[in-house]
Amino acid sequence: MTIPSHSKRMIRALKGEVLERPPFWLMRQAGRYLPEYREVRKQSKNFLDFCYSPDLAVEVTLQPLRRYQMDAAIMFCDILVIPDALGQAVQFIEGEGPVLDPVRTVDEVRRLSPDRMHEHLAPVYETISRLAQEIPEETALIGFAGSPWTVAVYMVEGRGGTQCERVLQWANDAPDDFQVLMDLLVDTTADYLIRQVEHGAEIIQLFDSWAGVLNDEQFRRWSIEPTRKIVDRLKEHCPGIPVIGFPRNVGIRAEAFVTETGVDGVSLDQDTPLDWIANTLQPLCTVQGNLDNQILITGGDELDREIIKILKALSGGPFIFNLGHGVLPQTPPEHVGRVAELILGWPESSGGIG
Ligand code: CP3
Repeated sequence: MTIPSHSKRMIRALKGEVLERPPFWLMRQAGRYLPEYREVRKQSKNFLDFCYSPDLAVEVTLQPLRRYQMDAAIMFCDILVIPDALGQAVQFIEGEGPVLDPVRTVDEVRRLSPDRMHEHLAPVYETISRLAQEIPEETALIGFAGSPWTVAVYMVEGRGGTQCERVLQWANDAPDDFQVLMDLLVDTTADYLIRQVEHGAEIIQLFDSWAGVLNDEQFRRWSIEPTRKIVDRLKEHCPGIPVIGFPRNVGIRAEAFVTETGVDGVSLDQDTPLDWIANTLQPLCTVQGNLDNQILITGGDELDREIIKILKALSGGPFIFNLGHGVLPQTPPEHVGRVAELILGWPESSGGIG
């Protein structure tokens, strides 16, 4: 007998239910901190080939679940498969991260083409179909994409780790030109996510990792507005699909993001104050977060105290435990084990800590 999806903790939390033991998963839960990930990763020299190998992607998605019983699996892939599928040259260079042939004019945007996108992304859809069959029945399957702004940052800058000067300059100096790129990303990302749901994704998360560099006006136009369009399209084609938005480093502007985009859940970074989350956001939607990924590296009593502090502050409302940003490669796997132990034992595990 299969468990109906509404009995999965993740789905219940995203429908607004307050659970005594909240669900948990961690961004980048499949990754280099796990020795078994590094082992599988060796089988593919090129990171994008790895993302497009369903056997390998399914295996590494399942690895953290075998160790820690997370309530969700996030399909293994990357946000930069969209520019790759549109025909932009994307490479991942060891020790450096992603490097792209930058797109900086409307003519260059027009040279990109979504015509073969779904063919190109077929292995990702296969990964999702297989995961939907293979994950434990109480575990929810999360599909994802980068938000148009964050994907555009990489497409225009050509790499990560910048101050986003070039992309901000384009967006400010020629907003109507930049809009051509953003419209392409809204359309292709919405189509990509609809396919993910059709292949078995039960929740969608949109990563807007670079939203924090935008001022208020830019944030409305380049983060909220494109997200709202994607959420509308997803809900129109896939009624009831829960969507989590992750506008990272936007502070109290997360409130406008929630009310104006129509997301069901918002993922929050570690700098968002817990009392503000509980008082302002939890009455509006489900919240996800926000353990500091550096404290996950530190471990020990400090880790215990921080986890319990978050659980105490947020488990009175609709809540999913997660990090404020992804698991870092230098994280000791035992520390992730400690997170799982405290959450799975909650509320009894609070005794004496904090
Ligand atoms: O477990 C999961 O969370 C699923 C897999 C996942 C990856 N990337 C795998 C990955 C997800 C959800 C992402 C999202 C992603 N990718 C984001 C948004 C979240 C965030 O971190 O802000 C961004 C900005 C990217 C782009 C990206 N991919 C960068 C900047 C890098 C290099 C930095 C790094 O961590 O190495 C990647 C590579 C990448 N994506 C790795 C993994 C596991 C490491 C590559 C490797 O194993 O060789």
